[in-house]
Amino acid sequence: MQALAVFPSQKRFGLLDIPEPQLSGATQVLLRLCEVGLCGTDREIASFEYGDPPSGADHLILGHESLAEVVELGREVRSLKRGDLVVAMVRRPCPHAECRACRAGRPDFCVTGDYTERGIKGADGFLTDYVVEDEKYLVRVPRALADVAVLVEPLSVVTKAADQAHAIFDRLSYDPGPQRGLVLGAGPIGLLGAMVLVANGFETLVYSRDSEESKPAELVRSLGAHYASSTIDPIEGLGTRWGQFDLIFEAVGFAPLMVGATQMLRANGVLALTGVPPKAATVELNAGRVLRDLVLRNQVVFGTVNAGRRDHLSAIQHLEQFMVLFPESVRTLITHRVPLDEVPQILTQKRGIKDVVEMTRAA
Ligand code: BGC
Repeated sequence: MQALAVFPSQKRFGLLDIPEPQLSGATQVLLRLCEVGLCGTDREIASFEYGDPPSGADHLILGHESLAEVVELGREVRSLKRGDLVVAMVRRPCPHAECRACRAGRPDFCVTGDYTERGIKGADGFLTDYVVEDEKYLVRVPRALADVAVLVEPLSVVTKAADQAHAIFDRLSYDPGPQRGLVLGAGPIGLLGAMVLVANGFETLVYSRDSEESKPAELVRSLGAHYASSTIDPIEGLGTRWGQFDLIFEAVGFAPLMVGATQMLRANGVLALTGVPPKAATVELNAGRVLRDLVLRNQVVFGTVNAGRRDHLSAIQHLEQFMVLFPESVRTLITHRVPLDEVPQILTQKRGIKDVVEMTRAA
Protein backbone atom coordinates (compact mmCIF):
# COMPACT_ATOMS: atom_id res chain seq x y z
CA MET A 1 0.00 0.00 0.00
CA GLN A 2 1.04 3.59 -0.49
CA ALA A 3 1.83 6.23 2.13
CA LEU A 4 2.78 9.90 1.99
CA ALA A 5 6.02 10.52 3.85
CA VAL A 6 8.43 13.36 4.55
CA PHE A 7 12.19 12.69 4.50
CA PRO A 8 13.53 15.68 6.52
CA SER A 9 17.26 14.89 6.12
CA GLN A 10 16.83 14.73 2.32
CA LYS A 11 14.46 17.72 2.28
CA ARG A 12 11.87 15.89 0.22
CA PHE A 13 8.46 14.27 0.53
CA GLY A 14 6.51 11.85 -1.65
CA LEU A 15 4.65 8.57 -1.90
CA LEU A 16 6.29 5.33 -0.86
CA ASP A 17 5.26 1.68 -0.70
CA ILE A 18 4.93 0.14 2.74
CA PRO A 19 3.64 -3.29 3.83
CA GLU A 20 0.07 -3.60 5.16
CA PRO A 21 0.13 -3.63 8.97
CA GLN A 22 -1.19 -6.56 11.00
CA LEU A 23 -2.63 -6.89 14.49
CA SER A 24 -0.01 -7.96 17.00
CA GLY A 25 -1.76 -7.27 20.33
CA ALA A 26 -5.08 -8.22 21.94
CA THR A 27 -6.24 -4.61 22.39
CA GLN A 28 -5.28 -3.49 18.90
CA VAL A 29 -7.61 -2.55 16.07
CA LEU A 30 -6.94 -2.66 12.33
CA LEU A 31 -8.34 0.45 10.66
CA ARG A 32 -8.99 1.34 7.04
CA LEU A 33 -8.55 5.07 6.55
CA CYS A 34 -11.54 6.85 5.01
CA GLU A 35 -10.33 10.46 5.09
CA VAL A 36 -7.38 12.46 6.38
CA GLY A 37 -7.50 16.24 6.81
CA LEU A 38 -4.49 18.45 6.02
CA CYS A 39 -3.63 21.49 8.11
CA GLY A 40 -0.96 24.13 8.68
CA THR A 41 1.04 21.69 10.82
CA ASP A 42 1.31 19.27 7.88
CA ARG A 43 2.47 22.12 5.64
CA GLU A 44 5.11 23.12 8.19
CA ILE A 45 6.34 19.52 8.36
CA ALA A 46 6.45 19.37 4.56
CA SER A 47 8.53 22.57 4.62
CA PHE A 48 10.92 20.80 7.05
CA GLU A 49 10.25 23.39 9.79
CA TYR A 50 8.58 21.03 12.25
CA GLY A 51 8.07 17.32 12.94
CA ASP A 52 10.33 14.32 13.60
CA PRO A 53 10.42 10.80 12.13
CA PRO A 54 10.07 7.84 14.51
CA SER A 55 13.38 7.20 16.25
CA GLY A 56 15.86 5.51 13.90
CA ALA A 57 13.72 6.15 10.78
CA ASP A 58 14.61 8.52 7.95
CA HIS A 59 10.99 9.37 7.19
CA LEU A 60 7.72 10.33 8.85
CA ILE A 61 4.36 9.26 7.42
CA LEU A 62 2.20 12.38 7.56
CA GLY A 63 -1.44 12.82 8.56
CA HIS A 64 -2.97 13.33 12.00
CA GLU A 65 -6.59 14.35 11.29
CA SER A 66 -8.06 10.91 10.71
CA LEU A 67 -11.39 9.26 10.03
CA ALA A 68 -11.26 5.48 9.71
CA GLU A 69 -13.36 2.35 9.69
CA VAL A 70 -12.74 -0.61 11.98
CA VAL A 71 -11.94 -3.73 9.92
CA GLU A 72 -10.46 -6.17 12.44
CA LEU A 73 -10.33 -6.38 16.23
CA GLY A 74 -7.87 -7.88 18.71
CA ARG A 75 -9.52 -10.47 20.96
CA GLU A 76 -9.75 -8.19 24.01
CA VAL A 77 -11.26 -5.17 22.26
CA ARG A 78 -14.62 -4.46 23.92
CA SER A 79 -15.66 -0.92 23.00
CA LEU A 80 -15.64 -1.20 19.20
CA LYS A 81 -17.03 -3.47 16.52
CA ARG A 82 -16.24 -4.09 12.88
CA GLY A 83 -17.66 -1.29 10.68
CA ASP A 84 -17.52 1.39 13.40
CA LEU A 85 -16.26 4.80 12.34
CA VAL A 86 -13.49 6.16 14.53
CA VAL A 87 -11.16 9.11 14.92
CA ALA A 88 -7.71 8.42 16.38
CA MET A 89 -6.31 10.74 19.00
CA VAL A 90 -2.94 12.23 18.00
CA ARG A 91 -0.75 12.20 21.12
CA ARG A 92 0.80 9.16 22.83
CA PRO A 93 2.17 9.31 26.37
CA CYS A 94 5.82 9.82 27.29
CA PRO A 95 7.56 6.87 29.01
CA HIS A 96 8.45 8.63 32.27
CA ALA A 97 6.98 7.34 35.53
CA GLU A 98 7.01 10.87 37.03
CA CYS A 99 4.73 12.35 34.34
CA ARG A 100 1.41 12.17 36.11
CA ALA A 101 -0.44 13.63 33.14
CA CYS A 102 0.72 10.88 30.77
CA ARG A 103 0.23 8.19 33.40
CA ALA A 104 -3.34 9.43 33.87
CA GLY A 105 -4.07 9.21 30.13
CA ARG A 106 -3.74 12.97 29.48
CA PRO A 107 -0.61 13.19 27.29
CA ASP A 108 -2.03 16.47 25.97
CA PHE A 109 -0.83 17.86 29.33
CA CYS A 110 2.52 15.96 29.23
CA VAL A 111 5.09 17.66 31.47
CA THR A 112 8.30 16.11 30.11
CA GLY A 113 7.84 16.93 26.42
CA ASP A 114 8.79 13.36 25.48
CA TYR A 115 5.32 12.50 24.16
CA THR A 116 4.94 11.38 20.56
CA GLU A 117 2.28 12.57 18.10
CA ARG A 118 1.12 10.41 15.21
CA GLY A 119 1.98 12.07 11.92
CA ILE A 120 3.88 14.87 13.67
CA LYS A 121 6.49 13.89 16.24
CA GLY A 122 8.22 10.52 16.52
CA ALA A 123 5.32 8.34 15.28
CA ASP A 124 3.92 7.64 11.82
CA GLY A 125 0.60 9.15 10.83
CA PHE A 126 -2.48 8.16 8.90
CA LEU A 127 -1.87 9.13 5.26
CA THR A 128 -2.01 5.53 4.10
CA ASP A 129 -4.64 2.82 3.54
CA TYR A 130 -4.46 0.78 6.76
CA VAL A 131 -3.08 1.42 10.25
CA VAL A 132 -3.06 -0.47 13.52
CA GLU A 133 -3.99 1.41 16.67
CA ASP A 134 -4.71 0.53 20.28
CA GLU A 135 -8.40 0.68 21.24
CA LYS A 136 -7.66 3.25 23.96
CA TYR A 137 -6.62 5.89 21.45
CA LEU A 138 -9.77 5.61 19.33
CA VAL A 139 -12.97 7.61 19.65
CA ARG A 140 -16.11 6.30 17.97
CA VAL A 141 -18.12 8.76 15.86
CA PRO A 142 -21.75 8.42 14.78
CA ARG A 143 -22.27 7.41 11.14
CA ALA A 144 -24.61 10.38 10.74
CA LEU A 145 -21.55 12.63 10.97
CA ALA A 146 -19.53 10.65 8.37
CA ASP A 147 -19.21 13.48 5.82
CA VAL A 148 -17.81 15.97 8.35
CA ALA A 149 -16.27 13.72 11.03
CA VAL A 150 -12.75 14.33 9.70
CA LEU A 151 -13.14 17.70 11.48
CA VAL A 152 -13.32 16.06 14.92
CA GLU A 153 -9.56 16.23 15.58
CA PRO A 154 -9.10 19.95 14.78
CA LEU A 155 -12.37 20.67 16.58
CA SER A 156 -11.08 18.81 19.68
CA VAL A 157 -8.27 21.38 19.92
CA VAL A 158 -10.95 24.11 19.95
CA THR A 159 -13.27 22.38 22.44
CA LYS A 160 -10.33 21.83 24.80
CA ALA A 161 -9.69 25.60 24.71
CA ALA A 162 -13.39 26.42 25.09
CA ASP A 163 -13.85 24.10 28.07
CA GLN A 164 -10.87 25.68 29.82
CA ALA A 165 -12.26 29.16 29.13
CA HIS A 166 -15.60 28.08 30.60
CA ALA A 167 -13.84 26.73 33.68
CA ILE A 168 -12.22 30.17 34.12
CA PHE A 169 -15.53 32.01 33.61
CA ASP A 170 -16.99 29.78 36.32
CA ARG A 171 -15.01 31.82 38.84
CA LEU A 172 -17.60 34.59 38.31
CA SER A 173 -20.31 33.82 40.81
CA TYR A 174 -22.77 36.13 39.02
CA ASP A 175 -24.30 36.16 35.53
CA PRO A 176 -21.89 38.25 33.40
CA GLY A 177 -24.68 39.05 30.91
CA PRO A 178 -24.34 38.80 27.12
CA GLN A 179 -20.77 37.84 26.22
CA ARG A 180 -18.71 38.93 23.25
CA GLY A 181 -16.12 36.74 21.52
CA LEU A 182 -13.30 37.59 19.13
CA VAL A 183 -11.63 34.97 16.95
CA LEU A 184 -8.24 35.83 15.48
CA GLY A 185 -7.67 33.88 12.27
CA ALA A 186 -10.08 32.40 9.72
CA GLY A 187 -8.35 29.11 8.96
CA PRO A 188 -10.10 25.86 9.92
CA ILE A 189 -9.28 26.22 13.65
CA GLY A 190 -10.45 29.85 13.74
CA LEU A 191 -13.66 29.03 11.87
CA LEU A 192 -14.38 26.05 14.13
CA GLY A 193 -13.69 28.39 17.06
CA ALA A 194 -16.25 30.84 15.67
CA MET A 195 -18.80 28.01 15.41
CA VAL A 196 -18.22 27.03 19.05
CA LEU A 197 -18.61 30.66 20.19
CA VAL A 198 -21.77 31.22 18.15
CA ALA A 199 -23.25 27.91 19.35
CA ASN A 200 -22.52 29.01 22.92
CA GLY A 201 -24.39 32.28 22.50
CA PHE A 202 -21.45 34.69 22.12
CA GLU A 203 -21.81 37.71 19.85
CA THR A 204 -18.83 36.82 17.68
CA LEU A 205 -16.36 38.73 15.50
CA VAL A 206 -13.77 36.95 13.36
CA TYR A 207 -10.69 38.97 12.37
CA SER A 208 -8.29 37.79 9.69
CA ARG A 209 -6.24 38.94 6.70
CA ASP A 210 -8.66 37.36 4.20
CA SER A 211 -10.74 39.95 2.33
CA GLU A 212 -14.35 40.75 3.18
CA GLU A 213 -15.40 38.91 -0.02
CA SER A 214 -13.41 35.74 0.71
CA LYS A 215 -14.93 32.30 1.36
CA PRO A 216 -13.99 32.36 5.05
CA ALA A 217 -15.68 35.78 5.42
CA GLU A 218 -18.85 34.43 3.78
CA LEU A 219 -18.78 31.39 6.00
CA VAL A 220 -18.45 33.58 9.11
CA ARG A 221 -21.45 35.68 8.08
CA SER A 222 -23.45 32.51 7.36
CA LEU A 223 -23.07 31.65 11.06
CA GLY A 224 -24.59 34.99 12.05
CA ALA A 225 -21.18 36.26 13.20
CA HIS A 226 -19.36 39.45 12.12
CA TYR A 227 -16.23 39.50 9.99
CA ALA A 228 -13.47 42.12 9.85
CA SER A 229 -10.51 41.99 7.49
CA SER A 230 -7.07 43.34 8.39
CA THR A 231 -6.92 44.69 4.82
CA ILE A 232 -9.53 47.29 5.89
CA ASP A 233 -9.39 47.32 9.69
CA PRO A 234 -5.82 47.60 11.01
CA ILE A 235 -5.38 45.83 14.33
CA GLU A 236 -4.63 49.12 16.15
CA GLY A 237 -8.12 50.46 15.41
CA LEU A 238 -9.98 47.23 16.05
CA GLY A 239 -10.75 47.99 19.70
CA THR A 240 -12.14 51.46 18.84
CA ARG A 241 -14.34 50.12 16.08
CA TRP A 242 -15.51 46.86 17.64
CA GLY A 243 -15.05 47.35 21.39
CA GLN A 244 -13.61 44.80 23.80
CA PHE A 245 -14.28 41.10 24.26
CA ASP A 246 -14.89 38.63 27.08
CA LEU A 247 -13.25 35.75 25.25
CA ILE A 248 -10.57 35.98 22.57
CA PHE A 249 -9.68 32.82 20.74
CA GLU A 250 -6.39 33.13 18.85
CA ALA A 251 -5.62 30.76 15.97
CA VAL A 252 -2.95 32.49 13.87
CA GLY A 253 0.44 32.02 15.55
CA PHE A 254 1.51 35.58 14.65
CA ALA A 255 3.33 36.88 17.74
CA PRO A 256 2.42 40.63 17.42
CA LEU A 257 -1.26 39.72 17.13
CA MET A 258 -1.05 37.28 20.05
CA VAL A 259 0.45 39.96 22.28
CA GLY A 260 -1.72 42.79 20.88
CA ALA A 261 -4.86 40.80 21.61
CA THR A 262 -4.48 41.51 25.32
CA GLN A 263 -5.52 45.13 24.59
CA MET A 264 -8.88 43.97 23.35
CA LEU A 265 -9.84 42.06 26.49
CA ARG A 266 -12.62 43.30 28.73
CA ALA A 267 -12.29 43.21 32.50
CA ASN A 268 -12.43 39.53 33.66
CA GLY A 269 -11.72 38.51 30.05
CA VAL A 270 -9.95 35.39 28.86
CA LEU A 271 -7.46 35.07 26.00
CA ALA A 272 -6.90 31.52 24.71
CA LEU A 273 -3.81 31.06 22.52
CA THR A 274 -3.66 28.10 20.10
CA GLY A 275 -1.39 29.36 17.28
CA VAL A 276 2.28 28.37 17.38
CA PRO A 277 4.58 31.33 16.48
CA PRO A 278 8.12 30.81 15.14
CA LYS A 279 10.66 30.60 17.99
CA ALA A 280 12.55 33.65 16.70
CA ALA A 281 9.51 35.98 16.69
CA THR A 282 10.14 39.13 18.73
CA VAL A 283 7.63 41.84 19.58
CA GLU A 284 7.98 45.29 21.09
CA LEU A 285 5.80 45.20 24.17
CA ASN A 286 4.63 47.65 26.81
CA ALA A 287 4.86 44.94 29.43
CA GLY A 288 3.79 47.29 32.23
CA ARG A 289 0.46 48.02 30.58
CA VAL A 290 -0.28 44.39 29.72
CA LEU A 291 0.66 43.10 33.18
CA ARG A 292 -1.18 45.93 35.00
CA ASP A 293 -4.34 45.08 33.10
CA LEU A 294 -3.98 41.38 33.79
CA VAL A 295 -3.87 42.10 37.50
CA LEU A 296 -6.17 45.09 37.89
CA ARG A 297 -8.80 43.72 35.48
CA ASN A 298 -8.68 40.03 36.51
CA GLN A 299 -7.67 38.87 33.05
CA VAL A 300 -6.40 35.42 32.12
CA VAL A 301 -4.16 34.42 29.20
CA PHE A 302 -3.56 30.74 28.61
CA GLY A 303 -2.04 28.52 25.94
CA THR A 304 -3.46 25.18 24.93
CA VAL A 305 -2.40 22.34 22.65
CA ASN A 306 -3.74 18.99 21.48
CA ALA A 307 -6.72 17.35 23.21
CA GLY A 308 -7.78 14.46 25.42
CA ARG A 309 -10.58 11.93 25.02
CA ARG A 310 -13.18 14.12 26.68
CA ASP A 311 -12.33 17.00 24.31
CA HIS A 312 -12.89 14.64 21.37
CA LEU A 313 -16.26 13.61 22.83
CA SER A 314 -17.10 17.29 23.30
CA ALA A 315 -16.04 17.90 19.66
CA ILE A 316 -18.44 15.19 18.49
CA GLN A 317 -21.29 16.73 20.48
CA HIS A 318 -20.47 20.17 19.11
CA LEU A 319 -20.34 18.81 15.56
CA GLU A 320 -23.79 17.27 16.05
CA GLN A 321 -25.05 20.64 17.29
CA PHE A 322 -23.43 22.49 14.34
CA MET A 323 -25.10 20.09 11.91
CA VAL A 324 -28.46 21.21 13.33
CA LEU A 325 -27.63 24.92 13.59
CA PHE A 326 -25.63 25.54 10.39
CA PRO A 327 -25.00 22.30 8.43
CA GLU A 328 -24.07 24.03 5.16
CA SER A 329 -21.48 26.23 6.87
CA VAL A 330 -19.83 23.14 8.38
CA ARG A 331 -19.76 21.36 5.03
CA THR A 332 -18.29 24.37 3.21
CA LEU A 333 -15.30 24.32 5.58
CA ILE A 334 -14.06 21.35 3.54
CA THR A 335 -13.20 23.10 0.30
CA HIS A 336 -11.38 20.29 -1.56
CA ARG A 337 -11.32 16.50 -1.46
CA VAL A 338 -8.30 14.97 -3.22
CA PRO A 339 -6.88 11.47 -3.75
CA LEU A 340 -3.60 10.51 -2.06
CA ASP A 341 -1.53 10.72 -5.25
CA GLU A 342 -2.41 14.42 -5.63
CA VAL A 343 -1.16 15.31 -2.16
CA PRO A 344 2.48 15.92 -3.19
CA GLN A 345 1.31 18.67 -5.60
CA ILE A 346 -0.88 20.48 -3.07
CA LEU A 347 0.94 19.92 0.20
CA THR A 348 2.92 23.11 0.38
CA GLN A 349 0.36 25.51 -1.10
CA LYS A 350 -2.50 26.78 1.01
CA ARG A 351 -5.73 26.98 -0.95
CA GLY A 352 -9.39 27.19 0.06
CA ILE A 353 -10.13 26.47 3.71
CA LYS A 354 -9.56 22.75 4.34
CA ASP A 355 -8.14 20.08 2.05
CA VAL A 356 -9.21 16.55 2.86
CA VAL A 357 -7.52 13.48 1.39
CA GLU A 358 -10.04 10.87 0.38
CA MET A 359 -8.60 7.41 1.06
CA THR A 360 -11.72 5.24 0.77
CA ARG A 361 -15.33 6.32 1.16
CA ALA A 362 -17.02 5.34 4.45
CA ALA A 363 -19.23 2.35 3.55
C1 BGC B 1 -2.55 19.11 16.02
C2 BGC B 1 -2.39 18.77 17.48
C3 BGC B 1 -0.92 18.78 17.85
C4 BGC B 1 -0.31 20.12 17.48
C5 BGC B 1 1.16 20.27 17.85
C6 BGC B 1 -1.83 20.39 15.68
O1 BGC B 1 -1.89 20.61 14.30
O2 BGC B 1 -3.93 19.22 15.68
O3 BGC B 1 -2.98 17.51 17.75
O4 BGC B 1 -0.77 18.53 19.24
O5 BGC B 1 -0.47 20.33 16.09
O6 BGC B 1 2.00 19.35 17.22
